[in-house]
Amino acid sequence: MTKLKYALIGAGGNAEKKHIHGYLSLENVQVASICDIDLDKASKMAQKYNVPSAYQDYKDMFAAEKPDIVSIVTPNFLHAEITEYALSQGAHVHCEKPLSINAEEARRILQARDRYGKLVMIGLNNRFTNEAVFLKKWIDDGHLGDIYSAKAGWVRRSGIPGRGTWFTDKKRSGGGVMIDLGAHYLDLALYLMDRPKASYVAGKTYQNFIHTTARNRNGYKGIEGGVFNVEDAAIGYVGLDNGASLSFDFSWASNIEEDRFYVELMGTKGGASLVNGTLKLFGDSSDICLDITPKLKLNPQLQLLNEFRHFVDAIAQGRQTLVAPADDGLYFAQIVDAFYESAEKGLPVQVVSAYPGVLV
Ligand SMILES: NC(=O)c1ccc[n+]([C@@H]2O[C@H](COP(=O)([O-])OP(=O)(O)OC[C@H]3O[C@@H](n4cnc5c(N)ncnc54)[C@H](O)[C@@H]3O)[C@@H](O)[C@H]2O)c1
Repeated sequence: MTKLKYALIGAGGNAEKKHIHGYLSLENVQVASICDIDLDKASKMAQKYNVPSAYQDYKDMFAAEKPDIVSIVTPNFLHAEITEYALSQGAHVHCEKPLSINAEEARRILQARDRYGKLVMIGLNNRFTNEAVFLKKWIDDGHLGDIYSAKAGWVRRSGIPGRGTWFTDKKRSGGGVMIDLGAHYLDLALYLMDRPKASYVAGKTYQNFIHTTARNRNGYKGIEGGVFNVEDAAIGYVGLDNGASLSFDFSWASNIEEDRFYVELMGTKGGASLVNGTLKLFGDSSDICLDITPKLKLNPQLQLLNEFRHFVDAIAQGRQTLVAPADDGLYFAQIVDAFYESAEKGLPVQVVSAYPGVLV
């Protein structure tokens, strides 16, 4: 069997939690290299997982290793630059969310993808959970009818991911909780709703917890004196051309009883909620209101859809990735750009965000 040669770029928290395990588990992938600007980090991870080489500079890595696939798991502001370079070197790219820090960069990525004829998939793991995969199919099969209302959010009591690190520096992150957690759950709501065309966004940002260390996320080290110039809460509304309502609520820190991540959908035939990982379906039968809590009967080792296998299969079969192609990154970035503009102006902002994106 010819194996695809894989390299990991960015050896931080998410790379260790997710990407390295995902690619090591695939029999038709050879994990060849790890690269991090902090060479010691890359070398330690390479040693831990028996990966043959480590690099400090990603360009040196491409020149020496010529990988077929790379994961890009660096701070957000580097996603576009490294993705474009990887595509130019003939690699397929699995880029972490958000695809880019704004729509302009997302457009550049799509253009490079089309120019070099390679695939770009976004690491939107919340689309790949068994519950999300099942719910998407349930909706596509028509069980909700027309979805006319959706609510999405991720609210944390104490969850600032490294106060003073790149996460809280707008230049390197592109934004605060909206671009960090919104990229998971606002994205998921839009995806489940079949990526409706958005026509305006109205939003507000808040910075109520930037002066306290008490609300840092467990396990995330902050940097004393580091920049914190992004929002810790983002609340808003997306106006959709199909007449449906979509409101959202994201916070890294807030005075609430407990954390909650959720999508709630109301349709003309049925409803659904996915709250803290639990899926419930709502409807009626024989004129009686009925709730269903589906038990997905799977071998615990199995997933309906594995993010890494999905990407590698698409490459092998020479087709687009169906679940999280780069087009979703542009669609989402246009909504996020409009959100920040609206928060700044204090007014709703018009946006033409359609899927797949318009490249002009
Ligand atoms: N899908 C998810 O659930 C999820 C979870 C966490 C983070 N993320 C995303 O993953 C990305 C990384 O987040 P993280 O939490 O791992 O951050 P992190 O800070 O822990 O890791 C980033 C790594 O990139 C390295 N790096 C910086 N510049 C580099 C360069 N030029 N070349 C190579 N490496 C470089 C850093 O040294 C660091 O080791 C972000 O885009 C974030 O949004 C996704």
